[in-house]
Amino acid sequence: MRLAIQADVEAIADVYFASYRLLDFLPKLHDLTSYRWYVANVMLKEWTVTVAEDDSGIVAFVERRGEEMGHFYTRPDRIGQGVGTQLVEAAKASGVDALELWFFQANTRARRFYEARGFRAIRFTDGADNEEQTPDVRYRWERTTRKSSSPGQVVSTPNVPNYPRSEDRPLTCQRHVHAARIADVTAGGLMMIARTLAPAGDRRVIT
Ligand SMILES: CC(C)(COP(=O)(O)OP(=O)(O)OC[C@H]1O[C@@H](n2cnc3c(N)ncnc32)[C@H](O)[C@@H]1OP(=O)(O)O)[C@@H](O)C(=O)NCCC(=O)NCCS
Repeated sequence: MRLAIQADVEAIADVYFASYRLLDFLPKLHDLTSYRWYVANVMLKEWTVTVAEDDSGIVAFVERRGEEMGHFYTRPDRIGQGVGTQLVEAAKASGVDALELWFFQANTRARRFYEARGFRAIRFTDGADNEEQTPDVRYRWERTTRKSSSPGQVVSTPNVPNYPRSEDRPLTCQRHVHAARIADVTAGGLMMIARTLAPAGDRRVIT
């Protein structure tokens, strides 16, 4: 595992594009060019991105900004082989007291993945705020306090939504940052639409 660099743009976009297509309950709103634009101009500029690689290249990546996890994808041919667990464990080991992320409620495999790794649901939405207009859920993991018996144990979190206002929502773990901004890629006359992300704290990414 290592931090991503600009030279990784295409490889990360390829993983993201291919893995996102496994989520067959979602509309496919962007082409590969848009993914590359997003990785180069948003992901690598606004997030800390960790990649996992092997002899075949980058096989998984995760975005993180402090306690916020963003996009998190494993290349389809490497899913279920443990690399996602390694990336989550590395994020936990970075020293944060908690991790939070959004993902789509229909992503039942992701839900099992996160719950098996100590995350718990803390808020559900109807999807009105995300680009896909698809219901999502916010999950949280908290480091166990020193008084607790076993390191890494999960502190109980509420089962009911507890975020007071929609403005408090950060990006969903895939809540596409593509949305909200119009980027004019002039050379090729390519217009890409990415949603406007007002202040950084209000942006959402769903994984
Ligand atoms: C979720 C994801 C990043 C986890 O990475 P990973 O490298 O597969 O993770 P691991 O191999 O460590 O763990 C696999 C677990 O993920 C779960 N999983 C999640 N999505 C899965 C998928 N599409 N296919 C198979 N298993 C999946 C499995 O239930 C498996 O559970 P297990 O621990 O009981 O075996 C990866 O599966 C993925 O990219 N999925 C598709 C995109 C997605 O859902 N991204 C997350 C959005 S928040």
